[in-house]
Amino acid sequence: MPPAEFDRYFHDRASRFAAFYRSEGLSRLIGRGPLFDRLRGSVEIVTGLGATHVLDVGCGSGPLFAPLAAHGVRTTGIDPAPAMVALARIEANRYPEMVTVQERGWEAIDEEDAYDVAVALGVFDYVDEPAVLLGALGRAAPHVVASFPAPGLRTQLRRVRYGARGVHVHGYRPEDLRALASGTGLVVAELRPLDRAGYLAHFARAGG
Ligand SMILES: C[S@@+](CC[C@H](N)C(=O)[O-])C[C@H]1O[C@@H](n2cnc3c(N)ncnc32)[C@H](O)[C@@H]1O
Repeated sequence: MPPAEFDRYFHDRASRFAAFYRSEGLSRLIGRGPLFDRLRGSVEIVTGLGATHVLDVGCGSGPLFAPLAAHGVRTTGIDPAPAMVALARIEANRYPEMVTVQERGWEAIDEEDAYDVAVALGVFDYVDEPAVLLGALGRAAPHVVASFPAPGLRTQLRRVRYGARGVHVHGYRPEDLRALASGTGLVVAELRPLDRAGYLAHFARAGG
């Protein structure tokens, strides 16, 4: 997927996407429960690792900021979509000293070992070069937590819906994730199913 179209897609839909986080009950009713499951799972993994600084790639409106700040974890959120960044900055202002928001995409990640964990929720879905993204995350932090949609009818339907807007949608099987990890010097440390929607994966450096 050309990055510009992915950025534009979420720039145009920032408020609509952020609205899913207003009511967990309502979102579950319309099949968006995995959004909450992947947030909770990420917080559990991050806090279980004793992390103090997280890179949140494709942070969107910043739904991870509050639960991480509540555990004393600082977050640097990055996102290239200006409308998402505007929402994320409003959210970040609620946690002074704990959250920084930067307008940039994952292509601009050049940090090395600058964070304890790099998180990417709802990003690999749309990325044509997942190994390049995972490699960048694995250099920025020794642990990576990311969500991946499973292949199947749900992903097929999204492929058609998003495809009409020029955004590609990719599905991943557990073996795809293991292959992706080994190609980037990582291992799959944990794979949590997200209902039928896909997986939350925790990658760690091989031999680390
Ligand atoms: C499905 S939303 C997920 C947002 C947030 N992580 C969440 O879980 O609510 C995908 C996010 O990826 C962002 N994005 C688009 N292109 C990106 C890129 N090149 N690098 C990083 N994030 C990108 C979008 O702007 C959007 O905010």
